[in-house]
Amino acid sequence: MPRKMWSDDEDQLVHHGRADGLTMPEVQGALLAAGHTRTLKAIEERWRRIRKTVVPISDAPAPDELLGLLLRGPVEATKDNLDAARALLALGHMVDVDLGGNEIALSRHVERGESPVLADEIGNGQEITIGLISDTHHGSKYRDIELLSYVLPELERRGAQIIYHAGDLFDGNRMYRGHEFELEAIGADAQYEMAVKEHPALGIRQKILGGNHDESFIKQIGLDNVSRFCDFRDDCDFIGYHAADIQITDTARMVLMHPTGGVSYAISYKLQKFIEKEVPRPAIFACGHFHVACFFPYTGTLGIMIPTFQTQTPYLRQKALSPILGAVLLRLRISDSGKLSDVWWEWMAAA
Ligand SMILES: [Fe+2]
Ligand SMILES: [Fe+2]
Repeated sequence: MPRKMWSDDEDQLVHHGRADGLTMPEVQGALLAAGHTRTLKAIEERWRRIRKTVVPISDAPAPDELLGLLLRGPVEATKDNLDAARALLALGHMVDVDLGGNEIALSRHVERGESPVLADEIGNGQEITIGLISDTHHGSKYRDIELLSYVLPELERRGAQIIYHAGDLFDGNRMYRGHEFELEAIGADAQYEMAVKEHPALGIRQKILGGNHDESFIKQIGLDNVSRFCDFRDDCDFIGYHAADIQITDTARMVLMHPTGGVSYAISYKLQKFIEKEVPRPAIFACGHFHVACFFPYTGTLGIMIPTFQTQTPYLRQKALSPILGAVLLRLRISDSGKLSDVWWEWMAAA
């Protein structure tokens, strides 16, 4: 009777069985369970023949497969799952292993950022010029990339030593009904690639905060697209989501904020309320998200609403709202004793 040929399936079962430490009778049992009848002698002979030539196919899930599982809930922290989780982490997904090391889960937690003391980098008795931008909304059909391409290098040309971006780097995903029709780049990868291609690179550092539109990727697929972008770019640093404390000097702080919710009828109203909640009061409170511009000195704090680079969307038109486009340039004087003594501001409205 002619010998039955070994199938690839059988070879893989023998390989994985041996790699997992199974005895030959256990390998025979695994083959039998899969519908293959082989004698022990035949299995031993086959193992000797294939052990160096057959490449075992990995059991590890592809990163995409693991992401699909994680979106439904935590998974067991097996070696294969951990390998796939590491690949997801490298792609910017927020993957966490619990303290006991038994489970892998998607993290949707975002933290308030902090940064080193700015004056330490610049020096006492000097002036610091900083550029404030916000709400670039890469991926949106309504982003004004022409204006951004002019304004960012222009801020640097006018002496900005550092740029702060107050959030909504990306337009995100499923923010409201009909949002998908306002997108030119749909999904995290397409928006990331668009930003990599379009967001102007500078010779100074750009410190970028994540906003609620960026957070949609975290909520929906556990992906921190802002960190991913900053990791790729040499001139960009990620400084957290929603709010960051920027220590200008040891005694003067700037809060950079990306809140949620709609703009109030009196543009300065929310700025006033946010400033009142800050204890101790910051020297500067700069706020993105509302797509408006406002300078509002109030009880020792300079409140600023940073305008946007997104023109009026159908969503805004429905609400009878018009965005204000542009950026802010701030000049800060640090006294010899290291205190913030003066602030000047400029508004760059358009090209
Ligand atoms: Fe925004
Ligand atoms: Fe926002």
